[in-house]
Amino acid sequence: MDILVVGCGKMGGAMLRRWLDAMPARFTTVNRSGRALPPGTEHATGPDALTGRRFDAIIIAVKPQQIPDVMPAYTDLLADGGCYVSIAAGFSTASLGKLVGDQPVIRIMPNLPALIGRSVNGLFANPTCQDKHRDLANELARTTGTAVWLDDEDELDRLTAIAGSGPGYVFEIARSYVAAAQALGFSKETARALVLETMGGAIEMATRSDQDVADLRNSVMSKNGTTEAGINVLRRDGQLDALLRDTTRAAYDRAVELR
Ligand SMILES: NC(=O)c1ccc[n+]([C@@H]2O[C@H](COP(=O)([O-])OP(=O)(O)OC[C@H]3O[C@@H](n4cnc5c(N)ncnc54)[C@H](OP(=O)(O)O)[C@@H]3O)[C@@H](O)[C@H]2O)c1
Repeated sequence: MDILVVGCGKMGGAMLRRWLDAMPARFTTVNRSGRALPPGTEHATGPDALTGRRFDAIIIAVKPQQIPDVMPAYTDLLADGGCYVSIAAGFSTASLGKLVGDQPVIRIMPNLPALIGRSVNGLFANPTCQDKHRDLANELARTTGTAVWLDDEDELDRLTAIAGSGPGYVFEIARSYVAAAQALGFSKETARALVLETMGGAIEMATRSDQDVADLRNSVMSKNGTTEAGINVLRRDGQLDALLRDTTRAAYDRAVELR
């Protein structure tokens, strides 16, 4: 199987590393800037350097705003029976269809823990896709993490707002938590270690448990204890709930704008 990856930045590069390790396919990337790419990849500077080649799948991993300018030059490179796989946020299969024609298109919405095989991947296929295209997309997703198939493209944009953008929220919350630890007198290194170990341990524990996360929270709060004192502030006036609702809503609204 011959696969072309157009756009090999943070997300495309993270996924490509996993694919190269786990999949028997031959991967070619478009690398305009000459950036270092994982070993085992063939490089091309652009579509002209690929004239005459045909790919079983073309993976679209440029920014959504770049797709209309970039993709028309690649449409001749798709083999008969091949498919497009887009990891771009928001950009719909219908909009891609206007650029590449009536072709099988699958959207995979990954997130950056793909780097360590922990991506949460949402998948959506347009009606032109056949089982062989879904099987390929499933393998591309499973190699980097989980694969959650969705019947409704709007649901993929909602998943983008929760999982695709999610690592960014987690890093921002961690940053603020580290700053709070520093404000209590810890060095930057100690604050970072305390916060990341605490977050990692708590998340791992919740993942392994069947208990509701609210029950887990209650289980670490004793009456008039230190945790209760902190949680009372964290939950004051429902501000945290409102903030996270607004955060995910803004990401979803942006995905809708990018359609
Ligand atoms: N980052 C995330 O956490 C995340 C999560 C889910 C989905 N995504 C999606 O993944 C896609 C890529 O995002 P990213 O964060 O990886 O962005 P990025 O790091 O900026 O990567 C974009 C890549 O596109 C390449 N590119 C731009 N114009 C090109 C052209 N004309 N021909 C070939 N390659 C071109 C760039 O190459 P040069 O360096 O040569 O300019 C760069 O390698 C986006 O559509 C985004 O929505 C990202």
